[in-house]
Amino acid sequence: MSMFMKRTRYNGELRISDVGQTVIINGWVAKIRDLGGVTFFDVRDTSGLIQVQIDPDSSLKSMINSLSNETVVAVQGVVIERSNKNSNIPTGEIEVVAKQIEILSTAKQPPMIIANQTDALEDTRLKYRYLDLRRPMVQDTLKIRAKAMSVTRRVLEQHGFIELETPILTKSTPEGARDYLVASRIHEGRFFALPQSPQIFKQLFMIGGMEKYYQIAKCFRDEDLRADRQPEFTQIDIEASFIDEEDIRRLVEDMLIQIFDETIGVSLPSSFDVLQYEDAMQMYGSDKPDRRFELLLHDVTSLFTDSEFTMLQAEYVHMLHVPASSLTRKQLDEAADVAKRYGATGLAVLKMDQGQVSGIGNKLSAAELQTIQERSPAQGNDVYLFIAGERRTTQNAMGQVRLFIANTLSMIPDNTYDVCWVVNWPLFEPTETGFTSAHHPFTAPHPFDLQTLENPEFAYAKAYDVVCNGYELGGGSIRIHDQAIQQKVFEVLGFTKQKAKEQFGFFLEALEFGTPPHGGIALGVDRLIMLLTKTTNIRDVIAFPKTASAQDLMSQAPGEVSEAQLEELHLRIKR
Ligand code: AMO
Repeated sequence: MSMFMKRTRYNGELRISDVGQTVIINGWVAKIRDLGGVTFFDVRDTSGLIQVQIDPDSSLKSMINSLSNETVVAVQGVVIERSNKNSNIPTGEIEVVAKQIEILSTAKQPPMIIANQTDALEDTRLKYRYLDLRRPMVQDTLKIRAKAMSVTRRVLEQHGFIELETPILTKSTPEGARDYLVASRIHEGRFFALPQSPQIFKQLFMIGGMEKYYQIAKCFRDEDLRADRQPEFTQIDIEASFIDEEDIRRLVEDMLIQIFDETIGVSLPSSFDVLQYEDAMQMYGSDKPDRRFELLLHDVTSLFTDSEFTMLQAEYVHMLHVPASSLTRKQLDEAADVAKRYGATGLAVLKMDQGQVSGIGNKLSAAELQTIQERSPAQGNDVYLFIAGERRTTQNAMGQVRLFIANTLSMIPDNTYDVCWVVNWPLFEPTETGFTSAHHPFTAPHPFDLQTLENPEFAYAKAYDVVCNGYELGGGSIRIHDQAIQQKVFEVLGFTKQKAKEQFGFFLEALEFGTPPHGGIALGVDRLIMLLTKTTNIRDVIAFPKTASAQDLMSQAPGEVSEAQLEELHLRIKR
């Protein structure tokens, strides 16, 4: 005998064809209501909801008072056709007339409404995440996540990849964020770093001859959090040997095509557009361009080199043309604020309508106005925006203005997916004192030779990002398998031999024992699920997420630890 009346059917799968059947269902009570003596309530399980009815003359009548929302019950009853059908839910044509009800567990009054439409603020939902998880839309998101992971594993395995694990207690990895550290008890004063990614280990798998690695990997980065960033997140991490960039691209395309198709029924193109990094920056002002709307930027630097209007004489001048513009004065001011927030000194506005110019119009020569129109022909009621300044800052600021205007004018279609590659990234980024890696120090230069490294400022990399609707979905590169090139990259980065040895010694030694040409990529799982479920909040797609200030409101982590634990770890808190 079972401890309780075990279900014979899942609630959500019952249909009109089941009328007349006696069933047992299990689940949580929701929405109890009394309609003229007949009591109705819903029973929710992971498959869905079904309405249960208690007849006024039923012997179960006396139980009604002990049923409250979120009570866990087993109900035995007969499926009947409903007189009053609800076309909003799949089980809306039928209901179960209860013959027997068993209360399996009672519930306190929950602190939030447990339904898709909830009254709860996010803090409450995170504090009581296990209640939030009962909401069907939260479950749907996690089911999409599980499906996406299942398809990922299948596709990668079809391509001959094997799932391998890498350690969590390890040494600092080179992704450039702050590490989460774990103090060692046994080795006083020493620390493990949680991996920012499995980067070094996956390359060691290649040196170890495994050839095709993948892992659904947890990564940890202590960095400023944003709507699409968590301190603890998940990657689909991939690495392969004896391959080139195109092989990685084809693989990821195949994987994403199947994931989008099988989770949300969206067909992606059979191959994705490939944009050069410099073109993306020039046309969209972004290394993760949102191409769902046409609003292209123009490099008009050369137009103003000899201009009388010196404000537009600069290393770089970017122009954004908004035709048929309904932008108000206030919106243009807000656009200027956006430009300034991203480092521009200002945003110059030229308005043009039926040959009439205003804004900076009277400061420009007739020839200049003519050339501007040749670059991007006026269509009537046009606004041309300009930012002048240092190249990357200007591009980036104008890219943000472009997004602001698209949002303001509702130009971004909801139901479109645009996926593309951005390739050929700069290898280094200039800093005040020298250079740092744009990706990480093992990224191969393009072309792959020492010559490329002679001029670090203009060196490009065999690095690629996959971008979807303005999100960086994944990034990777072909790695350096040649010791001389690796040495030289460290030199450019200003690593002394000693420092390189301290930080990556074991890895550099490994490179000396025969390293195959190899490369890989990592895709952000959380961002992928955000795109599939159309949310802009990364916390929506993680079962137990952290807040924007890196806390777990439910378990109250991070928490304090006892003096004894600190003592054991040889730590003292500075107050
Ligand atoms: P990268 O640092 O570009 O590359 O990370 C790869 C992808 O991981 C996701 N991601 C994040 N998602 C949520 N929260 C975060 N804090 C976060 N940080 C990164 C993004 C990003 O595109 N080892 C390399 C990969 C490689 O070279 O193979 C790496 O980790 O979607």
